Amino acid sequence: MITLALSKGRIFDETLPLLARAGISVDPALADSRSLILPTGDPELRLIIVRASDVPTYVRYGAADLGVAGADVLLESGVKGLYQPIDLGIGRCRLCVAVPCGFDYPQAVRRGARLRVATKYLQSARRHFAEKGVHVDLIKLYGSMELAPLVGLADGIVDLVSSGGTLRANGLVEVEEIMPISARLIVNQASLKTLAGPIGRLLESIESTLAEAQAR
Ligand code: PRP
Repeated sequence: MITLALSKGRIFDETLPLLARAGISVDPALADSRSLILPTGDPELRLIIVRASDVPTYVRYGAADLGVAGADVLLESGVKGLYQPIDLGIGRCRLCVAVPCGFDYPQAVRRGARLRVATKYLQSARRHFAEKGVHVDLIKLYGSMELAPLVGLADGIVDLVSSGGTLRANGLVEVEEIMPISARLIVNQASLKTLAGPIGRLLESIESTLAEAQAR
């Protein structure tokens, strides 16, 4: 039996159709349920539902053999020793710096102002501003980052942007893209050896499904 860790939300919603195209079905009633362990149409594969930021931990410790996690989560987790064989191309978005519409970010950077930036992505934000030589005080938040500049908690934010709708709805504009983000398949190194057969077959069928989609 191999175990694949997924988080509910976009990753789950986009991974299920990918698995279906690879011939692995999940009962829709179960997919919509609160169950945390989901069997699949493949008796050798089950899914477990964990928080997005916990996916690398489950895979690192071998509680899951595989997982699907955004590049943002992988960069922040600092979890080492995960094999990342496939960029699944799902959950596409970008990690950005955004500020209120009226805030002159380039000017603030030019004059070397010390900026307060709210984010869930401390590691990626720290690296980005250090590389640019921008002085920042980072404030760790766990969600709704867009609110922080509106109530004076921060000058700007570092957050994921997909459609841009959340920024627009809150009067913020994107001023820098830090990196494009998509979800990757991650694999426990030991599982790769002990379950080489079933994991190899799963990776092959996902890869050929992705290649077919690209060829279309
Ligand atoms: C993400 C992100 C933004 C929003 C961007 O939040 O943090 O708030 O999506 O998407 P958009 O550009 O299409 O509007 P999510 O809903 O994943 O919740 P989170 O705050 O818990 O990360």
